[in-house]
Amino acid sequence: MQEVSELIPTLFDQRTRPDPYPCYAALREREPVPLATGRGVMLGSFASCLAALRDRRLSSDRTVSWAYSGDPAATTSRPEIQSLLFSDPPDHTRLRRLMSHAFTPGMVERLRAFVRARIDDLIDAAAPAGRIEVVGGLAYPLPLSVIGHMLGVPGSDMKWLHARSMVLPRAFDPAMAAFGTPPPGHAERMVAEREMNAYFLELGRRRLRSPGDDLVSELAMVSADGDRLSERELADNCRLLLNAGHETTVNLIDNTLLALLRHPREAERLRADPHRASAIVEETMRWDSPVQILQRFVPRDLRFGEVDLRAGDIVVLLTAAAQRDPAAFADADAFLPDRTDGRHLGFGFGAHFCLGAALSRMELGLLAPRFFQRLVGPVLDESSVRYREQVALRGLTRMDVDFTDVR
Ligand code: HEM
Repeated sequence: MQEVSELIPTLFDQRTRPDPYPCYAALREREPVPLATGRGVMLGSFASCLAALRDRRLSSDRTVSWAYSGDPAATTSRPEIQSLLFSDPPDHTRLRRLMSHAFTPGMVERLRAFVRARIDDLIDAAAPAGRIEVVGGLAYPLPLSVIGHMLGVPGSDMKWLHARSMVLPRAFDPAMAAFGTPPPGHAERMVAEREMNAYFLELGRRRLRSPGDDLVSELAMVSADGDRLSERELADNCRLLLNAGHETTVNLIDNTLLALLRHPREAERLRADPHRASAIVEETMRWDSPVQILQRFVPRDLRFGEVDLRAGDIVVLLTAAAQRDPAAFADADAFLPDRTDGRHLGFGFGAHFCLGAALSRMELGLLAPRFFQRLVGPVLDESSVRYREQVALRGLTRMDVDFTDVR
């Protein structure tokens, strides 16, 4: 087994991307793994990750950590961002309450027909070629058009937003925590964040003056007990929704279709019974989750289990390791959609539980069966499969699938 000091560099090594799970297992067995910066730990067991997500003493506010409290230009994000994801109570409670008013199950249901039609259009577009590059032809365009449609972003602006949004996911890699340096592409991310926030600031103002039937208008108008989102809060959280609303769902589409193409018996069962989609999607969320790592920050000295943490420390949660923990799941490394020990942390847990879980479940619930019902004889070209460089968000850049016909 590798030395513990080698495991974290191995996790970040590009050669690990196709199969990071042996490295996760080794880290899980050694938890708590001290970070080389001396300012925090990595946790990988299911029990520890769950306990950390439940622990209200740990913060989601990156500005409390040593890595983010100094010069904002040297950190991986600007501390003044007022996003739901990076806030703690009482700010988080307030923002979440306001956003939940607009982001409702009814709103998700109203999108169902749009999603169904879009899936068929994308499959039809690939039909004449007998081959589909899944990432560019399906996995990106579907969630991108869904979130654009929801937010009421004009179609002509989506290309511009998408180009900026694509550079952001690496910000979630815990490189600061592990090595004391931001993930590559930091300066480019700062520019992209600033430009996207300016865009949503302007869109929010326009929608306040003349509201439409879209989420930005609803969020601009939403009020609870006389409270409303400020202009800045509206812009930051609309940007969060745009990014969170497609980068993760793209990866769930990639990972689900890849799992099914590599488990043809499961694909055939899904084709015969579309109701199996939910079990398959939940198992993909556990077995090969789009979000592999979360972070929490330590506002003041505290003892977590057997670990003493100091104010400013970072706790890196290897949720992808936790979801294959043999202490929590039988036959944890196997893809078994029929398992009944099905709790996963793929949408997080507790106060920050994903606001868009129902939306992405709906998108996948329609897409996965439709893909296997419409494409005749789909075969994965294994040699085409390429992984993204980032570590915390797992997905593909390319996956080609051949088929003989489209029904
Ligand atoms: C939060 C995963 C889709 C919006 C989260 C968290 C996870 C997650 C793990 C918790 C982060 C933490 O605790 O630090 C995913 C995955 C998705 C997905 C795997 C797709 C498969 C979406 C979509 C939207 C969305 C479609 C919106 C359209 C959000 C928001 C939060 C969040 C706003 C912050 C909630 C809070 O802090 O209270 N997501 N997400 N997500 N997600 Fe998602």
